[in-house]
Amino acid sequence: MPHAIKDHQADPCILVIFGGSGDLAKRKLIPALYNLSLDGMLPSNFAVLGLGRRNLNDGEFRESAREGIAKYSRQPLVDRKWADFEKHLFYLAGSIDDSASYEAIKNRIERIETEQHLPGNRIFYLAVPPTSFAAACEGLQQAGLVSPPDHVHPFSRVIVEKPIGRDLKSAQEINAVIGRVFDESQIFRIDHYLGKETVQNIMVLRFANSILEPLWNHKYIDHVQITVSEAEGVGTRATYYEETGALRDMVQNHLLQLLCLVAMEPPYSLDADVVRNARIDVLRCLRPITGKDVNQFTVRAQYSPGIVDGVEVPGYRREPGIRPDSTTETYVALKLFLDNWRWAGVPFYLRTGKAMAKRASEVAVQFKDIPQILFNANPASPQPPNVLALRIQPEEGMSLRMISKVPGTKAQTHPVELNFKYGDAFGSPSPEAYERLLLDVMAGDASLFMRRDAVEASWAWITPILEGWQTHGTKWLPEYPAGSWGPVEADRLIQNDGRMWRML
Ligand code: BG6
Repeated sequence: MPHAIKDHQADPCILVIFGGSGDLAKRKLIPALYNLSLDGMLPSNFAVLGLGRRNLNDGEFRESAREGIAKYSRQPLVDRKWADFEKHLFYLAGSIDDSASYEAIKNRIERIETEQHLPGNRIFYLAVPPTSFAAACEGLQQAGLVSPPDHVHPFSRVIVEKPIGRDLKSAQEINAVIGRVFDESQIFRIDHYLGKETVQNIMVLRFANSILEPLWNHKYIDHVQITVSEAEGVGTRATYYEETGALRDMVQNHLLQLLCLVAMEPPYSLDADVVRNARIDVLRCLRPITGKDVNQFTVRAQYSPGIVDGVEVPGYRREPGIRPDSTTETYVALKLFLDNWRWAGVPFYLRTGKAMAKRASEVAVQFKDIPQILFNANPASPQPPNVLALRIQPEEGMSLRMISKVPGTKAQTHPVELNFKYGDAFGSPSPEAYERLLLDVMAGDASLFMRRDAVEASWAWITPILEGWQTHGTKWLPEYPAGSWGPVEADRLIQNDGRMWRML
């Protein structure tokens, strides 16, 4: 019998998606809602209103939603279930940057609320570029669509998608724009990595098992590696990616959040702010990497032509829409330290890249070597250390490398893996990150969302690296062939310390 930690009860509400005809809505949000409805997690009175420039009517929006579900949903499209679900979907065409649109938005929301017997709870999902945030927030406020924070019912909440800024200053500006209209308690900033099942499990693993916590510190851990490698290249997102690069796109948010979960102190409760305080403490003790130090502690690189999954990939600078002299990094590796008691002197190695050998993400905790006596007496062939690897994707699970005796009369040892796979243990596939996150917003649980101070703390650490690259970096970036595990410079970053990247 599973042990319930927290109950999530979604309240009846309308979800208004700004960017309703866009990619995110079609690929992620609508399929996530459909899955929640299949699993019986949505309240019976519930509505989605898509807002977008494309001139669609409700029927056309539903058709596009249906296509999205057929293609991207975790669970298959079932006609009978779809027929129930589609009745909750609505669409309104218009420009959200134009303040004149908000009267029509208000009328439509109110009409849907009356027809669907909704109590006036509203969730606004800003799946649009940050340049539209100000117009959206102000438009909503002026139309009287935002209830004050102390109104528990009906509530108004806003969901904000990345990118939240491109450096500390722009992040602060975006936060200020949203903060003028919504109270922090109403703002849900998404980092979809926090919604991934295995990422949520890091806390459970650490704090629900008594054998790990005593070892989880500088006395027993040699180092930690965090890898998020992607096989896909820049794809169709050239314009966005050229301005972003791997450090902003992946490290500032996803990898630093993984780091927080691995390194945080035990929170004293599961209350959203208690958990978020514990996470942000990690960001606060990140040792800064500034000035020339960027060349010692970071490596950035671009993919050159190569083969990924048997398919030829052009070099990054030859991809459609990319400048031939682009210096945007598609790969980054970092070595960092946390200046606190638990992690004193323990290096954390982070790496992420596009067009790499395969899609694989994991957190690997490598324990210290055993003493050089008994089974480790021969310095010429040291025993491999114990490694606990938490696999985030694609095959979610974890493994522990132990040393075992090889059966037989000879005294031989060999590493073995104790392996746990989610799929095998629990049978059912894990929900998508967006399913969990949307449900949490409807239930008002902000633990898996980024608080303003966390976003800014993470930019405060990232921005000097960006500046260091500008001032002290080389013009041309190192390259790695598409389909490889990254540049030799990244190998050197870790090998100089007598360590190696893990083969995934
Ligand atoms: C997004 C980045 O936040 O995360 C993308 O913008 C990246 O560039 C994606 O591909 C990776 O997410 P996932 O869930 O596929 O690992």
